Amino acid sequence: MSIQAVRGFNDIFDTETTAKIQAVEQLLIQAAQAHGYSEVRLPFLEKAELYRRSIGETSDIVNKEMYTFSDKNDDLLCLRPEGTASCIRTAIEHNVLYQHSRKWYYLSPMFRRERPQKGRYRQFYQFGMEAIGIAEPFVDIEHLLLLHNIFKTLKIGSKVRLTLNYLGGADTRARYKQALQAYYHQHKNSFSPLDLQRLEENPLRILDSKDSSLQAINKNAPVMSNFYNDSEQKALEAITQQLNAHEIAYAHNPYLVRGLDYYTGCIYEWVAPELGAQATVCGGGRYDKLANQLGSQDIAATGFSIGMERLLELVETNIPPKITVTWISLSEESLKSSLQSCHKIRQACPGISVDTNYDISKIKNALKKANKRGYTYVIISGEDEINTGKYQLKDMINNEQYSLSLEEIITHLQHKV
Ligand code: HAM
Repeated sequence: MSIQAVRGFNDIFDTETTAKIQAVEQLLIQAAQAHGYSEVRLPFLEKAELYRRSIGETSDIVNKEMYTFSDKNDDLLCLRPEGTASCIRTAIEHNVLYQHSRKWYYLSPMFRRERPQKGRYRQFYQFGMEAIGIAEPFVDIEHLLLLHNIFKTLKIGSKVRLTLNYLGGADTRARYKQALQAYYHQHKNSFSPLDLQRLEENPLRILDSKDSSLQAINKNAPVMSNFYNDSEQKALEAITQQLNAHEIAYAHNPYLVRGLDYYTGCIYEWVAPELGAQATVCGGGRYDKLANQLGSQDIAATGFSIGMERLLELVETNIPPKITVTWISLSEESLKSSLQSCHKIRQACPGISVDTNYDISKIKNALKKANKRGYTYVIISGEDEINTGKYQLKDMINNEQYSLSLEEIITHLQHKV
């Protein structure tokens, strides 16, 4: 039997798809760099303990979705399910905040053993930005503005909706937790063992349940905003006022908690209903206590991650077709000189792809193949062309043919880029 890829791990090789991925990735990287963020490259493997302490033991990710295994020295390791915890681990481990705050971005695969379906994979890519060591809520607003602009540039502004909430501090949460426990105790007969554990340890987790019977119960659960103190109330208002000032539409969902335990303060999701069951394109928020959970002093931080597969599903392909050229050699001499000639074109015409042929072709067959593979131009070189120094440049789109020197071909192609 032939070997197939692991379920939920995708092969991507279609040139149109990879061109679209590259164009969108480029746009995100440019946006991050334009805002003063630099790339952080994080390991794929981390100690499992990192996620247990940060994302939380009662979260779905840690409970059911991690690829965890024992290394030969009995270290419990894990394929990273997300990037935020690694960013904070890195910042602490290398003491980078000693000099100044850090603004990092990453674009990398993450791994979660969820049930695969459209928009949900076991290996998926996230583009994330994290502002570490910055307490001012201004940076949260900047992230929301930046995301709004990214979605607008990608022409999906009308497809995504922003939902946000504000998680109160320790006192507020303690009072809210009690109210939630009192409410859920009335319904606990229908709870699974994991939800019973959540009820005792972390009832906020139940608010994020994907279980439909729990979702119905959640509709009447108490809301955290009723437990806010004055400064928390004002903090939420300050954020919503800024969003109004920038004309960014949002909905306040008082039940939004997000699936990871490390959040504090403003949290949000961008959802595209047209994606169906897996509609959250981006999630993020503030996580000022995460460093503390990892054994350091508090580090104020905030950030977000975009799920690349879901984002790409929303973006229409309107990438201009790349100019692709293939060199067809009809004689031994031409084949020998083609490597050098193709190299000259590549150097003089950045952005154009020039595909070398490695054997002597028959013109009819070669043109048929070139047509099938969708090249924009074909350069034909045989004995005559070598003698006269004039090659045949065939425009495959307009079906025109010119007899040109190599320099003239280069000038012609340069005008097309
Ligand atoms: P998250 O909500 O777990 O947050 O993931 C962020 C995004 O990754 C989701 O909104 C979704 O688009 C995408 N995603 C998650 N799981 C899958 C999957 N199985 N298949 C395809 N896409 C998926 C985080 O990971 C946080 N680290 C976000 C953050 C950064 N918070 C602060 N900074």
